[in-house]
Amino acid sequence: MTTIAAVAAWEALDSRGKPTVAVAVTLDDGSRATALAPSGASAGSHEARELRDGGHRYRGAGVRQAVNHVIDRIAPRVVGADADEPADIDALLVTLDPRADLGDLGANAVLAVSLATWRAVARRRGSLARLLQPEGALLLPMPMVNVVSGGAHAGRLIDIQDVLVIPNGAPDFATALEWASRVRAEAAVLAQEHGYETAVLVADEGGLGLPLPGNRAALQLVADAIERAGLEPGRDASIALDLAATQLVRDGLYELAGEGRRLDSAALVAEVAEWADAFPILSVEDLLGEDDWEGWSLATATLGDRVRLVGDDLFVTDPRRVERGILDRAANAVLIKVNQSGTVSGAFAALTRARAAGWDTIVSARSGDTEQSWLADLAVGWSAGQIKVGSTHRSERTAKWNRLLELEATEKTVFARSPMGVRR
Ligand code: PGA
Ligand code: ZN
Repeated sequence: MTTIAAVAAWEALDSRGKPTVAVAVTLDDGSRATALAPSGASAGSHEARELRDGGHRYRGAGVRQAVNHVIDRIAPRVVGADADEPADIDALLVTLDPRADLGDLGANAVLAVSLATWRAVARRRGSLARLLQPEGALLLPMPMVNVVSGGAHAGRLIDIQDVLVIPNGAPDFATALEWASRVRAEAAVLAQEHGYETAVLVADEGGLGLPLPGNRAALQLVADAIERAGLEPGRDASIALDLAATQLVRDGLYELAGEGRRLDSAALVAEVAEWADAFPILSVEDLLGEDDWEGWSLATATLGDRVRLVGDDLFVTDPRRVERGILDRAANAVLIKVNQSGTVSGAFAALTRARAAGWDTIVSARSGDTEQSWLADLAVGWSAGQIKVGSTHRSERTAKWNRLLELEATEKTVFARSPMGVRR
């Protein structure tokens, strides 16, 4: 039996300079690991609730209360507990908070303890990926790489939050990453040729933040960049979008502010269907808002046979919401963010529920992330098939890409199939 011997916690900083909870878990055999909680900007209201201090420190974003909850309320309950199965620690953790959304202890406190426990136990198995999948070839995920950023990640320069590239024709992970990087580089050169001198600056997730005239201009830029990269649109590389539409809702309509238009759900679905006719779009995330179940069902009936429809704020990595989505045919893929759930096991439960329905599963970073690379190990260990980390710039993003490159170079691996079954 392995037990937890000590838990330490402190306030650290994430990639946006905002405080985050850091935890170190030490096991009785001396294995020790740290974990830092990530944090979103376009967070859904149904997510597990992180705790922020308010007041003057860090403009209210301090996490000293959450840190103190780890030290005073969580550590006394988990020290001495059997950690042979880290899922048992997760099951214990969720009983410690009287609130289902973990907002009393703080989901940032709970998640950091959960993750640090998994990582400490993984030390004895070589890696977190190998703890989760001890035998056989590891499945490396297809990357989704941010090229143009908008919405809450880039000062709302365009309405769409992410325009990404999926190198869906690449034969292996390293090639996929190189193709994606090439598309991003060509998009930057093209943007500068079009007079956008700020194309050298990077947004929260490392993508280009450009004051483009509208959403279609962003799609055109990425489509042109794919061709300029010498790749065949659709066959080698395709476009993915995250509308983060919960953020667009104004007075019950979806506002495309950059274009001065307000659309109802049906009109927004029709608009995106036009984009999908004109551009090689393979995947659309959060096309509709977090509670617009009818709109989601309409989108899936309209577009679901040719576009992967990914629920992020809709499902918030909650197996019960995924269950409803399956019954309502309200999407055909799920985004998995561990901090939406609050524990590693909770996130895995959402992933397995979606997978059992035949859905694609995409493990995702947050816009406020950290230098840690455990997300890559989770995506691989869970055989998620897809990963979304932001762009190829900024170290908190490359930490995950570099970990996947390391796994490809040092482990027996296979590379994921393309989304929507598009053949390579
Ligand atoms: P967030 O954005 O981390 O700011 O919520 C990521 C996403 O919407 O996928
Ligand atoms: Zn999203």
